[in-house]
Amino acid sequence: MITLRAFDKRDFDILIGWVPSRDALHLWAGPLLFRFPLDHDQLEDYRRRAERDDHEVYSAVAAEGVVGHVELARINRNRRRADVCRVVVAPSSRGRGVAGHMLEALIRRAFHELGLDTLELHVHEGNKSAISCYQKVGFEIVNGAQVEMGDPPLRALTMRLQKGKPLPPV
Ligand SMILES: CC(C)(COP(=O)(O)OP(=O)(O)OC[C@H]1O[C@@H](n2cnc3c(N)ncnc32)[C@H](O)[C@@H]1OP(=O)(O)O)[C@@H](O)C(=O)NCCC(=O)NCCS
Repeated sequence: MITLRAFDKRDFDILIGWVPSRDALHLWAGPLLFRFPLDHDQLEDYRRRAERDDHEVYSAVAAEGVVGHVELARINRNRRRADVCRVVVAPSSRGRGVAGHMLEALIRRAFHELGLDTLELHVHEGNKSAISCYQKVGFEIVNGAQVEMGDPPLRALTMRLQKGKPLPPV
């Protein structure tokens, strides 16, 4: 069982341990938001985003402790949409479906508590394990919607999940 709780200071060193290289940082957060190495000052600025009502930043907690992290960003209640960002699972917990349970909890929050009906995300086109777990919870690649981000640019796919759409066959 995975539950989401607000990301806070006690999670900073845990998260720093999950992104031990520049490549890992870029895979997790893209090239623009953070500098490598990640540190408490950057994470405190990031945590404060969640004090605005258009961002929510979560730690995912299982029986063994904190196993994941995820952000709901650019929440727009008028357009009933938000972006899913900053998805990461503890390296020691990967390959066991943790991301799927964490995303299902986030989707329940977005669709049933916040009243949204569309979630979008960007994912590096080579990040097969991330694309696969987004597809398992119902996200679909938006055809032709590749964007370039950062310097050097990363080719990213846009994926979208709409409330009420049945899951594709596995
Ligand atoms: C992408 C990520 C969140 C997936 O989390 P997860 O809980 O391991 O997800 P799953 O258990 O559903 O595994 C995803 C896929 O990786 C495979 N996998 C197997 N062993 C694995 C391992 N040791 N580590 C990672 N993935 C593994 C799984 O079999 C699965 O593939 P499948 O769908 O073909 O079965 C996680 O790998 C991660 O934190 N990566 C680094 C950060 C990142 O890339 N974030 C996404 C940014 S858009």
